[in-house]
Amino acid sequence: MRLIQLACAAVLPPFVLALPSSERSHSSRSHNLAPRASLSFPIERVPSTRSATSLRKRQDLHSNARVNLHAVSITLGGQAVKLYLDTGSSNIWLIDTDFQCIDIDGHVISKDTCRFVDSGFDVRTAGGAKIDPSFFNTGYAGGEYMIGVGWTSDAEFNGVTIKDQIFGVVDRAHWAGDGYTSGLFGLGSLYTNQIYTNSSTVPVGDDSRVVFPNPVTEAWKQGLSNEYHTLALNRVPFDDEHDGVQPAGYLALGGVPDDIKVTGKSATVPLIKWTVGANGAYIDEQAWSAPDWKSTFTFPGSEDITQELVTPNMDTGASGIGLPTAVHNAYTPQIANTSCDGSGMPPLAWNVNGLDFYFDPLDLLNKQGSNDCYFQGYDAGATGAAL
Ligand SMILES: *[C@@H]1O[C@H](CO)[C@@H](O)[C@H](O)[C@H]1NC(C)=O
Ligand SMILES: *[C@@H]1O[C@H](CO)[C@@H](O)[C@H](O)[C@H]1NC(C)=O
Repeated sequence: MRLIQLACAAVLPPFVLALPSSERSHSSRSHNLAPRASLSFPIERVPSTRSATSLRKRQDLHSNARVNLHAVSITLGGQAVKLYLDTGSSNIWLIDTDFQCIDIDGHVISKDTCRFVDSGFDVRTAGGAKIDPSFFNTGYAGGEYMIGVGWTSDAEFNGVTIKDQIFGVVDRAHWAGDGYTSGLFGLGSLYTNQIYTNSSTVPVGDDSRVVFPNPVTEAWKQGLSNEYHTLALNRVPFDDEHDGVQPAGYLALGGVPDDIKVTGKSATVPLIKWTVGANGAYIDEQAWSAPDWKSTFTFPGSEDITQELVTPNMDTGASGIGLPTAVHNAYTPQIANTSCDGSGMPPLAWNVNGLDFYFDPLDLLNKQGSNDCYFQGYDAGATGAAL
């Protein structure tokens, strides 16, 4: 998900990049991977049609497209929930069981319209406590937004307990849900946390921002894991045999998950310490690392265009592939057709540190109907990119 307030790409938490090789590539390099993870949590993938057209502000978003939702299971305040895993935004939140679904203007509409799964966070019986006073308010690029309060309670991940995790509990939501999750698990930069220590009538700003690490960072701060974490995702093509819930890989804390084999080439990229927040907030003690590498794209004719070097936003919460304008403009006209077998797509690679990682042609497409596919690339701006 792309947060509304971000003009630039969200910065990721510490991240080790190990990409599978492509058959098209023959080069290899030695590489050092992070240590084996101390904790690994399964991720599920659910294909979902987010068809709530009326929620969309942006007309260029395909409203009936199938999205691959990644979900994690977590227990917050004693209540087990599934949350939408999103590396492209920062907040962790879930709905209050008594939440109201609202339209774009804030009018209450049928709860079903929001398409949350039929559970949430029951503030009457949950462990932990409300942060009082507090105000949670976030919004996403698709026009969705939510309003609620801040809450603190223990979080449990597969039996591992993280103390005093802060998250948002939503009482009003304008949301095009997936029918499977009841909230969102944001792993982006903590500089865009949007819980504030005051009531909703007081203007929000950095002075009143509650800066809260996500559970992954809390696990490290609480000595439960090393500082690395890895997201290892399976590729699940979109054919009809893959309807339903699929194992999608692991969120691994403290390194790389045990049973992930990196074959062929991989790229290791440096991290830098990152200190100044997107909104000017400076939180030295909590400074995070950011990926410090630049990449380009390779495709027929790419040598003829001038490419800005870009650091893509790695976003598990958004469909589509954001390409820099020059790349988008030169690549798109070469698409012969968007046949669902991928045969009409010219080769496209993401080049990292000089290594080409080719996209599978099927991953460049999204499916709206059994034989109805479209190119899921979009223009992400002169220096933008999102994968
Ligand atoms: C909250 O609002 C009250 C009333 O406007 C103000 O006096 C107080 O300083 C605010 N607190 C914070 C932490 O912003
Ligand atoms: C799509 O384009 C490819 C490459 O030109 C071609 O082989 C294929 O037959 C085309 N498919 C359709 C349905 O037009």
